[in-house]
Amino acid sequence: MRISISPPSLLILLITSLPQKAVADSSSPSGSDTRNPTCSCYRIPTTSEPLYFHHHRFWDFRSLPSSPSYSNTPPPSQGQRINSNFLSTSPFTNDWSVQDWSKNATSSTPLHMTNSPDNIFVSQISPSNSADTDPADDVPKNRASANTTALTLFTTRTPSFQSTAELQSQTSDYLHASLRLRFRVIGAGGGSNGGPDPGAVVGAFFYADDSNESDIEILTRDATSLYRFSNQPSVDKDGDAIAEAEVDVDLSALDGGSGGGNDTGDWTRFHDYRIDWSEHEVTWWVDGIQRARNSYGVPKKPAGINLNVWGDGGEWSGEMEVGGVAGMEVEWVEVVFNRTVGEGERRLGKRGDEGCRIVCRVDGVRQLGVPEVMYTAGARIGRVGLLGCEMWVVMALALLISGMVDWL
Ligand SMILES: *[C@@H]1O[C@H](CO)[C@@H](O)[C@H](O)[C@H]1NC(C)=O
Ligand SMILES: *[C@@H]1O[C@H](CO)[C@@H](O)[C@H](O)[C@H]1NC(C)=O
Ligand SMILES: *[C@@H]1O[C@H](CO)[C@@H](O)[C@H](O)[C@H]1NC(C)=O
Ligand SMILES: *[C@@H]1O[C@H](CO)[C@@H](O)[C@H](O)[C@H]1NC(C)=O
Ligand SMILES: *[C@@H]1O[C@H](CO)[C@@H](O)[C@H](O)[C@H]1NC(C)=O
Repeated sequence: MRISISPPSLLILLITSLPQKAVADSSSPSGSDTRNPTCSCYRIPTTSEPLYFHHHRFWDFRSLPSSPSYSNTPPPSQGQRINSNFLSTSPFTNDWSVQDWSKNATSSTPLHMTNSPDNIFVSQISPSNSADTDPADDVPKNRASANTTALTLFTTRTPSFQSTAELQSQTSDYLHASLRLRFRVIGAGGGSNGGPDPGAVVGAFFYADDSNESDIEILTRDATSLYRFSNQPSVDKDGDAIAEAEVDVDLSALDGGSGGGNDTGDWTRFHDYRIDWSEHEVTWWVDGIQRARNSYGVPKKPAGINLNVWGDGGEWSGEMEVGGVAGMEVEWVEVVFNRTVGEGERRLGKRGDEGCRIVCRVDGVRQLGVPEVMYTAGARIGRVGLLGCEMWVVMALALLISGMVDWL
């Protein structure tokens, strides 16, 4: 029997046998650009082929320095609104833009809505409501040990309009990305579910235009275990639902089924959300488990990243009653992404090794938001690989020549 090792498997052998050195990265994860300068690409495991990306960012809202509360502003029910320069200074403002546009009422969306910068603020999560004391919180390791703060996006219904909140990435040149964020949905407890009032949509999504958009959406009128994952548009020109566009996922089964559980699947608790947008499909994850995938309507255009909390009285959002409130409390946002071409980005091969010398991971790292090196492809392997290639060329030539000699 002949044991043959082909050059690729030899390479893989070499690559995987390298010690997996972790990076000592002293940079604080609270900053905007936490791209580990050591990493030349990031490898994202999926349920099939891993994805490779060039860039990484992490924004941490969990322990922002605070000064006393704002006055004269409606605090969200579960947290105290605090002052923080964080939102009005760089690095936050380099990456994110607080929206202030409005949308007039129409016959099908009877509430005027206005995005108000005042509806985006840092809040102190009161200990009685923090996930640390939440028995159903299954990802406690992601909490900061220091004071507990979060970025709150808030919506409330005034007598004449819906006051809403939207945060948008400064650029719309993301082209495929893995967006992760940890948040919970809040409200004043007025809703029939004892939480947020019906009539709001809580969203995290990629957006280029209405037909190049991929969403995580939570409707406060839904059961608190229902998640809506879609590639827009999810309705056609006649207003009829496009079945393939949306995957609704009910996580009440996480509670042990039959309603007798501990509300683990409940979106009023903190969860880790993730949406992976690649060329041919979008997948949606909650707490590290893939819950949905869709290859229909995958956005083709470079897009921006949006977080919002809104309502317009229409059929989709529902209409909030005057005085009603809802919001999202975001602990952190992490994005691993490619941009549109133009930064001299080189192709990343199957193992990320072409154009990527040092392959990093962002999942299962010791400190959330701080990537770690998985393996080094180019620096050492690249040379070994090249030598290996050259060696095989030489050997092949030698065989060819010896074969020719025999033949002659
Ligand atoms: C944490 O809270 C304490 C007491 O409320 C306060 O004195 C301290 O400044 C806070 N630390 C941070 C980092 O916000
Ligand atoms: C919204 O309505 C106001 C007042 O009716 C009008 O002045 C404004 O131009 C409208 N905006 C848009 C975008 O239609
Ligand atoms: C409740 O949560 C715990 C972990 O916090 C989990 O082990 C258990 O399976 C969950 N469900 C039920 C029905 O108890
Ligand atoms: C994305 O935008 C292009 C160009 O406007 C359009 O043709 C296409 O239908 C949109 N959606 C998808 C999923 O490609
Ligand atoms: C990111 O860009 C690189 C270089 O073009 C490419 O090889 C890689 O497959 C891209 N990743 C995704 C998920 O599109």
